[in-house]
Amino acid sequence: MTDSKWWKESVAYQIYPRSFYDSNGDGIGDLPGILQKLDYLKTLGVDLLWLNPIYASPDADNGYDISDYLAIQPQFGTMADVERMIEEAHRRGMRIIMDLVINHTSDQHPWFVESRKSKDKPYRDFYIWRDGKDGREPNNWQAHFNKSAWTFDEQTNQYYLHTFSPYQPDLNWENPKLRAALYEMIEAWLKKDIDGFRLDAISFISKAPGFPDHPGADDYIFDRKNMIHGPEYHTYLRELYQTVLSKYDIVTVGECLDLTVESTIEMAAPERNELNMPFLFEHISETIKCGKNPQRLKEILTRWQLGLHQKAWSGPAFNNHDSPRVVSTFGNETQYREASAKLFGTLLLTLEGTPFIYQGEEIGMTNVVFSTIADYRDIDTLNTHHALVEEKGVDSVTALATIHATSRDNARTPMQWDDSPHVGFSTVEPWIKVNPNYTTINVQQSIADSNSIFAYYQKLIQLRKTHLSLVYGEYELFLENHPEIYCFARTWDDDRLLVILNCTPRQPVLALPAAIELADSELLISNYPVDLADNLHLRVLRPYEARVYRLHEPVEL
Ligand code: NOJ
Repeated sequence: MTDSKWWKESVAYQIYPRSFYDSNGDGIGDLPGILQKLDYLKTLGVDLLWLNPIYASPDADNGYDISDYLAIQPQFGTMADVERMIEEAHRRGMRIIMDLVINHTSDQHPWFVESRKSKDKPYRDFYIWRDGKDGREPNNWQAHFNKSAWTFDEQTNQYYLHTFSPYQPDLNWENPKLRAALYEMIEAWLKKDIDGFRLDAISFISKAPGFPDHPGADDYIFDRKNMIHGPEYHTYLRELYQTVLSKYDIVTVGECLDLTVESTIEMAAPERNELNMPFLFEHISETIKCGKNPQRLKEILTRWQLGLHQKAWSGPAFNNHDSPRVVSTFGNETQYREASAKLFGTLLLTLEGTPFIYQGEEIGMTNVVFSTIADYRDIDTLNTHHALVEEKGVDSVTALATIHATSRDNARTPMQWDDSPHVGFSTVEPWIKVNPNYTTINVQQSIADSNSIFAYYQKLIQLRKTHLSLVYGEYELFLENHPEIYCFARTWDDDRLLVILNCTPRQPVLALPAAIELADSELLISNYPVDLADNLHLRVLRPYEARVYRLHEPVEL
């Protein structure tokens, strides 16, 4: 039995507010800017918007270092702007989810300011403080953006733990008072009629008891094993659900790391009462690491599609603000940019799970190649570059090439609305430089072209809205061992759709299994012109060709 839910049938769109649309000419995107673009999003067809953090923040990590959960960063606007945006989104049939960053705060949050003052301050235990060991940090854990996950604080001669930068101290979830304070804050947001949360770095809220060293070396080790999914992880999530989340008709999406199908079910199965879904990440990170490998891509996605079906839900995505753009990494950003962007759109919108489109994906925005490190803004990028050049002695050309390939800023350049000098994003120089390809890649042009990536995404979204088989249908993989072609069906009642994807710039021969009868089938969408008289059973696919058929005769396989 399928448990239908609005959030399973939604198509989500991630907005990175500081790069979306600047309404007041300060070079930074803002809430009134989002409001002005709601009709654009409505035209695209998405109906669930996720906003990256817009709360008060010193901005060490672009808002993921919050100094006041209940205040809005002035550059983004006011609480009244948030309320208007929620109301206007709802009026257009769209829902809004906010980023919930509760593994850590900013070091400027009043809780931490108090906590660091002395060992017996009431807020001391809101964070994780430890004595050093043998004149060094309490253990060898490494943070995401730095060497040690511990920073020494002279005021009290102890170290505090931070999974990310030293400006982002981890909260101590073992403290019930901290949890109660967080629940109160979450409830305050829910009362504003928002429709859910994306829970940042949520895997880290429970760590290994005793904080053991990672074995194997004297120096800091980047190994998340002891830092995530500790013994209280599920208890905390259930408490959060029972205390607050369960009282509202909302959706929760976890940014969870190192998940398997089994651990996802343990957290996202409905009877667990924890979170509704995690994002799916394995296919993004692994397929980038393994080069452009279609076989690996389909092996990973098939494992998730089959493993979670009717057990737990998920949120697939190919792009987000932390990853290079897929059209540049796995796809082809030059000759086949349009075809490959449409191919990844086809895959995203035909998988089980709530699809998350990232701003700019719908017009095929690409990675950026800044010529100097001075143009980069992201803390992670700057730290990586510093470590490469200053510590590892890598030459600056090689270091910059690494940054070009991996930087999170690849996905953070301003949304390309038109071909004016500040890309229609702002009237002044934006906080980060624009991607110089805006003259050929922009919304204005995409909207005017009925064959654009934007038009194709619109059609895909409508397809998903009209075929519940794409939401709830059973998944079946064909041509499992084909090195280039990814082919699968989604079936729900008598609606059976066949997805055919050539994930390469090459031209492989498609030999469909005899049991698939295409003769009477209807071509629902394709990214190349198709001669309907063609016999698709045995034919050469064009570079990054994608097609979706509706098979008329359900077949027994
Ligand atoms: C994950 C977010 O997506 C990323 O942008 C941020 O830097 C870290 N969590 C820390 O909050």
